[in-house]
Amino acid sequence: MKIFLDSANLKAIKEWKETGLIDGVTTNPTHLSKEGKDPSAQVKAIAKLLPKGSISVEVTEKKPDAVYKQAMAIAKLARNIVVKIPCHKDYYHVIAQLVKDGVKLNITLVFSLVQALMMAKLGVHYISPFVGRLDDIDVEGVDLLYTIRHMLDEYGFETQLLAASIRGVEHFHAAIMAGSDVITVPIAILEKASQHVLTDQGIAKFDKDWKKLGVRKFP
Ligand code: G3P
Repeated sequence: MKIFLDSANLKAIKEWKETGLIDGVTTNPTHLSKEGKDPSAQVKAIAKLLPKGSISVEVTEKKPDAVYKQAMAIAKLARNIVVKIPCHKDYYHVIAQLVKDGVKLNITLVFSLVQALMMAKLGVHYISPFVGRLDDIDVEGVDLLYTIRHMLDEYGFETQLLAASIRGVEHFHAAIMAGSDVITVPIAILEKASQHVLTDQGIAKFDKDWKKLGVRKFP
């Protein structure tokens, strides 16, 4: 399972890069807006930080022709860029053409099994179902991870399932259990999910017991 950081914050990406656990980054207009920097420069800096990582960058144009042109320009920002396009019917023909043109795509804002099937048929690289936003409308977002996984495996599609809109550790667990190829995790949730109170308590107890031995040098 690959772990992507769902953020455009360079400091956080640098910190987590050191762990060797991060396989990429997903940005979107909200993440880039939060950083308040020139978006092209920010994306290039992220791509340079993780040269072997997958860096998703979303189109912001709305008209199909403009989306196509912007996607081609975004793809040229760095070798490891993946272009994010919302899963909207108006863009299906643009997505089909970009796949033919060899542009790696991450189709975002996926909320249904049929949307996922259509994108897999077009041969896109990633599909990003938004778990949290389905929960927001009282639909079980996790269920969609399982049904998309089943569909991709049943029909032998190579498209990768990228679990997105992750709101808590329970979503992280569910993405693992559902067999997601990738999860993209906000920094705060990754911090929370990678720690456990019993680990902290266990370290403290070992330390307390070890100090009773009074050994100054070991080994
Ligand atoms: O990668 C998509 C993610 O950033 C959206 O998350 O919490 O705004 O639904 P959220």
